[in-house]
Amino acid sequence: MTLTDFRPHPVRGPVNATFFWLASGLFDRLLGPHKRRLLVDLPDTVVELGSGVGANLRYLSPGSTLIAVEPNPAMHRRLRREARRRGVVLDVRAVPAERTDLPGQSVDVVVSSLVLCTVSDPARVLAEVRRVLRPGGRFVFVEHVAAPEGTPLRRLQRWVRRPWAWCFEGCSCERDLAGALRSAGFDDVAVEAYRLRSPFLPFNPQIAGVATA
Ligand SMILES: C[S@@+](CC[C@H](N)C(=O)[O-])C[C@H]1O[C@@H](n2cnc3c(N)ncnc32)[C@H](O)[C@@H]1O
Repeated sequence: MTLTDFRPHPVRGPVNATFFWLASGLFDRLLGPHKRRLLVDLPDTVVELGSGVGANLRYLSPGSTLIAVEPNPAMHRRLRREARRRGVVLDVRAVPAERTDLPGQSVDVVVSSLVLCTVSDPARVLAEVRRVLRPGGRFVFVEHVAAPEGTPLRRLQRWVRRPWAWCFEGCSCERDLAGALRSAGFDDVAVEAYRLRSPFLPFNPQIAGVATA
C-alpha cells in the first residue's frame, strides 16, 4: 500500500456516509454562508474532491456536471441519489485526490470541503489540483484546520487525535492547511480564517477561500 491509497472500511465507511447525510442540514447552516460566497459563477463542469454524500450538489445548477473524485465506495449510493434529486449529471471517479487521472490543465474549477483534513497527503493533493487546473482556474476550499498553537482548543485537538481519526476515517484537526495552500505554488491564494460555533469543538477553526492557478 502506498501513502495515498484509501482503504475503505466495511463498517466505518457506511457509518460515516449515514452521519454526513444526517448532519448535512446542520453543516450547511454552519458552512453555507461561506459556500454561497465562494461557489459562484461555476462552469458547466466542476471537479470535486471527496464529494461524500453530495453536500455541495445544492450549489451546482441543474444540468451541470460534477466529476466527483471519491475513493470511498460507501459514499457512492447516497451521492448518486442526491445528484439525481438535484438534476446534476454525476461522473464518479473512485480514485484518491492525490492522483485523479484527469488530464493536465483540463479543469476550470476544483472544489473541496472538509477533505484536505482527511487525505493522506495534502501537499500532493494540492500539486494534483494545480496540475489539472487550467491557467487562471480556481480551487475553492472550505476546510477545518489546527487552532493556534498554545491555545486550549489546540490541546483539545491533540487529545482527541486518535479517536477522531478512528471515527472519521483518518481525519486530522491539526493541519495547517492555509500554510499548505500558500506553499503549493498557486498564483494567488485568498483565504479567510474564522471560527464556527458548533458542538464539534475540534472542528470549529476553519478556513475558506480560493486559490488561483
Ligand atoms: C469529512 S467527509 C466530507 C464530505 C463532503 N465533501 C462534505 O463536505 O460533506 C471527507 C470525504 O473525503 C473523502 N476522502 C478521504 N480520503 C480521500 C482522498 N484521498 N481523496 C479524495 N477523497 C477522500 C472521504 O471518503 C469523505 O467522503
